[in-house]
Amino acid sequence: MAIRIGDLAPNFQQESTEGNIDFHAWMGKSWAVLFSHPKDYTPVCTTELGEVARLKPEFEKRNVKVMGLSVDPLKDHQGWSKDIEETQGQKLNFPLLADSDRKVAKIFDMIHPNADDTFTVRSVFIIDSNKKVRLIITYPASCGRNFSEILRVIDSLQLTDQHKVATPVNWKNGDDVIIVPSLQDEAEIKRLFPKGFKKLKPYLRITPQPNR
Ligand code: BEZ
Repeated sequence: MAIRIGDLAPNFQQESTEGNIDFHAWMGKSWAVLFSHPKDYTPVCTTELGEVARLKPEFEKRNVKVMGLSVDPLKDHQGWSKDIEETQGQKLNFPLLADSDRKVAKIFDMIHPNADDTFTVRSVFIIDSNKKVRLIITYPASCGRNFSEILRVIDSLQLTDQHKVATPVNWKNGDDVIIVPSLQDEAEIKRLFPKGFKKLKPYLRITPQPNR
């Protein structure tokens, strides 16, 4: 069964560049980004892993741990990580799963046989601190991901967990947000959004980001 948004992220145990990992225990009370890449010693993946290492403090600020995966063996991860540091100026600072038996790739449906029947595609899962899957995106092997977009989605998810808002097109942290249409009680709206709001339509009400 495919994993969908809202599902509990399955637990697994697998070896990694940081030792054997039990996924749920490793997450603890944090959120997680679990992402797969097709293959070690490939150019796009090299740039991606350097960028995720560079962004690690941004993930940490949001209480998010990051974990990569490919179906290559640990020995390859260890050799390749030297190339990542040399070419990207960033040491690998998060675990890379060595999923050579494809256990995790199969559970998370990261191999799409009509794209490639051996290697994982570029899957991204954002999982919250209750272990619930909150976002799934899949990219083809030829397209490096934009990890600023992943951070943007985390900001949106964490904001909308705390306030009765949704985030509009191209929203970035600090921009105006939308009051959820289900909120209709005027007294409650005044209480929750003391900075006021613009009502463009009964269902489209714009307000400054409440936690700014
Ligand atoms: C890459 O990471 O550069 C890559 C991996 C698999 C197919 C194409 C590109």
